[in-house]
Amino acid sequence: MLKLKDKIAVITGGGSGIGLATAQRFVAEGATVIITGRRQDAIEQAIATIGGNIEGLCGDIANLADIDRLHTEVRDRHGRIDVLFANAGAGQVTPFAEVTEEDFDKTVDTNFKGTFFTIQKLLPLMPDAASIIINVSMVTGKGTAGFSTYAASKAAIRSLARTLTTELKERKIRVNAVSPGTFVTPLVAAAFPTKKALDAFVSDRATTIPLGRVGETEEVAAAVLFLASSESSYITGTELAIDGGVSQI
Ligand SMILES: NC(=O)c1ccc[n+]([C@@H]2O[C@H](COP(=O)([O-])OP(=O)(O)OC[C@H]3O[C@@H](n4cnc5c(N)ncnc54)[C@H](OP(=O)(O)O)[C@@H]3O)[C@@H](O)[C@H]2O)c1
Repeated sequence: MLKLKDKIAVITGGGSGIGLATAQRFVAEGATVIITGRRQDAIEQAIATIGGNIEGLCGDIANLADIDRLHTEVRDRHGRIDVLFANAGAGQVTPFAEVTEEDFDKTVDTNFKGTFFTIQKLLPLMPDAASIIINVSMVTGKGTAGFSTYAASKAAIRSLARTLTTELKERKIRVNAVSPGTFVTPLVAAAFPTKKALDAFVSDRATTIPLGRVGETEEVAAAVLFLASSESSYITGTELAIDGGVSQI
């Protein structure tokens, strides 16, 4: 049986990486999926790749007018959102002493403010018992060098998931977080100057992970599907680590 039959799902940042893999899985499980992102070409490419019940809308989650436009479009086209995967996020590795105000604002505006207002502004479209999944990161529980703004902005949205668990309980809306470990996506690849440097990082990282390898984006998609579907009907407020066990040791 299809796990998201006839559901309407919005995935921010669905044009690449984890969001793309999740959009693919959601469509395969019977959902109609609306993906967003700033790059029109990435959205169009994702729609062509996935096919079926998938639509796209270009927009920046750090821009509240773009989120309003998303609300209006989804309301007019579908009338509701059963599943929201607040996935869009960005960041860069910068030593603490070198973080500029511009770097700080960019990361916090995307990861914290963008996620916060995406959920706030789309919430009126969500019926009772809808599901919200926020993409956090394993780094929130670690002290990884160079991640001061990224990790703190992700910790903020981990906290938001807890607050919303309580605030939305009367409506039985479940709010959970997924916490990916290391996945080779455009976000991660961009941190390395060459493919060789990226490959060396991946090999090195694999030795620190109990399951002995970095993850595949489809493995995050499977976890998000679980939290989106009624299979997780008694789970809210939690953070599900998809990291090969690295956060547990
Ligand atoms: N890869 C990992 O190892 C890892 C680990 C932990 C957590 N995560 C989280 O997973 C999420 C997805 O990242 P990914 O690894 O799949 O990388 P990715 O392929 O770069 O995906 C990030 C997506 O977010 C979108 N995005 C970024 N800034 C945006 C903005 N201001 N407004 C709208 N969309 C925006 C991007 O689209 P546009 O560029 O077109 O806007 C892109 O589709 C992120 O929240 C990231 O922090 C990733």
